[in-house]
Amino acid sequence: MTSPAAERRTVAGPVSVRPLGEADLDRADEIFRVAFGTFLGVPEPETFFGSAEYVRTRWAADPQAAFAATVDGELAGSNFAANWGSVGYFGPLTVRPDLWDQGIGKRLMEPVMDCFDTWGNRHLGLFTFSHSPKHLELYRRYGFWPRFLTAVMKKQVAGSATVPGRVLYGEVPAAERPDWLDAGRELTGAVYEGLDLEREIVATHVQGLGDTILLQGGGSTLDGLAVCHCGAGSEAGEDVCFVKFGAVRPGPEAADRFERLLDACERLASERGLGQLDAGMNLGRPDAYRRMADRGFRTWLQGVTMHRPNDPGYSHPGAYVIDDWR
Ligand SMILES: CC(C)(COP(=O)(O)OP(=O)(O)OC[C@H]1O[C@@H](n2cnc3c(N)ncnc32)[C@H](O)[C@@H]1OP(=O)(O)O)[C@@H](O)C(=O)NCCC(=O)NCCS
Repeated sequence: MTSPAAERRTVAGPVSVRPLGEADLDRADEIFRVAFGTFLGVPEPETFFGSAEYVRTRWAADPQAAFAATVDGELAGSNFAANWGSVGYFGPLTVRPDLWDQGIGKRLMEPVMDCFDTWGNRHLGLFTFSHSPKHLELYRRYGFWPRFLTAVMKKQVAGSATVPGRVLYGEVPAAERPDWLDAGRELTGAVYEGLDLEREIVATHVQGLGDTILLQGGGSTLDGLAVCHCGAGSEAGEDVCFVKFGAVRPGPEAADRFERLLDACERLASERGLGQLDAGMNLGRPDAYRRMADRGFRTWLQGVTMHRPNDPGYSHPGAYVIDDWR
């Protein structure tokens, strides 16, 4: 990694870490874009990520799990933790480029690790740049170890047929939503004990970021679910439907259910007039990856997941899950 050494400033005052406040959001968003854009060497780093939003959406999802670092009272970076029940992950972690390599990133790891302690998540993870020794070493210090690559994939949306048994969380009557959330928790718990996407489903709904596909199975159970962000102002960005998390019930029919879930995601994208479908696939789930490639998904970004502890979590061949922890 190269950082803009010529513009590097030595930290003059003490670094403080505190909750990220609403008044910090504009500046935190600027730093987030310029940090990634600078790391990746794009010509106009301040415009990186375009119309996609991460800082404001993640802050709104859980302001208690959003943190700021300041130097001399000025915002220097931010980090966000996410609670998926037995699973916790964090990001985006960003530091102002002129302050890189002075320990601020490490300081911003402390409060997210405290969140995971408080929440009691059993499996922790993150997604990062596999080619960066700095990133791998920074996270190793906190107990994370690199595992399989994750392919962030995309495909052009084709016209698609309706998918029988599809329900959208945003369309169910408010009084029925708790039952659907229970059914979603039961499904994700069958994929990985204690895995619970309720916070993502609710945040997506409340903030109007997109919708959650619920695929009905037999009785009151679900065959699959997919939390989808749609368009500008969400994590997807303009003209994109981003499957932030998807999973189907494990077992002998899992691959067929997965195909049905992908059909339903493409259908939602098409209904919303979005031209591109984005979905991340960990390569520890080879059959799921192959099925996406066979459908025409192509990888546009590849990174590595790091896990604590160093075990597969739900990234194993029998898990038909979509996510990228970006
Ligand atoms: C990644 C990022 C948040 C790190 O912030 P930072 O303030 O520069 O990081 P820190 O200085 O706290 O820690 C970096 C550590 O990596 C170590 N490191 C740097 N290069 C290294 C290398 N080649 N090999 C091993 N360790 C290395 C540093 O020595 C330092 O640890 P130390 O101070 O204990 O020696 C920042 O660079 C950033 O914003 N990058 C762009 C956005 C991004 O990539 N975010 C993370 C996505 S997962």
